[in-house]
Amino acid sequence: MIIVVGSINLDLIANVDRLPTPGETVRGSGFATAPGGKGANQALAAARAGAKVRMVGAVGKDSFASEALALLRDGKIDLSGVGETFASTGIAVIMVGDDGENVIAIVPGANDSVLPGDLSKAFLGKGDVVLLQQEVPLQTVDAALDAARAVGAVTVLNTAPFRGEAVPFLGKADYVVANETEFDLYGEALSLNGRDRPARMRDYAGKTGRAIVVTLGGDGVLAATSEDFLTVPAMKITPVDTVGAGDTFCGYFAAGLSSGLPLEQALARAAIAGSLACLKPGAQPAIPLARDVDAVSQQSA
Ligand code: RIB
Ligand code: NA
Repeated sequence: MIIVVGSINLDLIANVDRLPTPGETVRGSGFATAPGGKGANQALAAARAGAKVRMVGAVGKDSFASEALALLRDGKIDLSGVGETFASTGIAVIMVGDDGENVIAIVPGANDSVLPGDLSKAFLGKGDVVLLQQEVPLQTVDAALDAARAVGAVTVLNTAPFRGEAVPFLGKADYVVANETEFDLYGEALSLNGRDRPARMRDYAGKTGRAIVVTLGGDGVLAATSEDFLTVPAMKITPVDTVGAGDTFCGYFAAGLSSGLPLEQALARAAIAGSLACLKPGAQPAIPLARDVDAVSQQSA
């Protein structure tokens, strides 16, 4: 079982030719709403990868809530741990440029009311994989890492979005998944040694005894454990919309670990899934199905 403790948003997405600079107005060519939030996106990706998933989170008592949860319901995710609060459902205002690049502003709303006390709704057990991000209060993330360890569950912490306050507890996670910017910032805060990123990743794995995965977008994925260093190439694609690609990677990665795939295979399958997620607009609507991911991995095998 995969348990995601994380955010649920409704994404308000505007397509623009190019992203505006501060003070500038650009005309959009399209608008859509779609379910999002890093926690929810990762939960759905894990489910589409074939895992059983439970979500702990919160939405508001408003009209955005049901739209935000719609694809999680379709995906048969256990939502018994999703509470309703008086704060509004979390939203993300997203602009996507023609080149697939984006800017995002989030208003957490109900996500800020996901507190350590809610972890009782996670029903953690030995062998579960607990998948975390940084869009709910960090005290909850920290408490979830402790609670998982106490029962013998495996933890995957995606350090998105970057928050400096996470530095003290990063090393508790069995697997940290960071993008290059996040890893470089955390590496500085943790005073990691090494002349290049792979060396600093090895330093992290050596010091913590835990694994670090760094996603490099079009350049693939690197991973360091205390014994090993792995390099996974990226698929060659032309991105349409990269929103949710990192989340798709994390959900597929957690699902791979949960089903007992060796690390390298879990990373490779997750990297393909993340690339395919860049080929369609939106976060959750773009998460590929397992059969599409596996069709690509068979071609490249
Ligand atoms: O990672 C993508 C997600 O970040 C979007 O779905 C948006 O909701 C923001 O949380
Ligand atoms: Na996408």
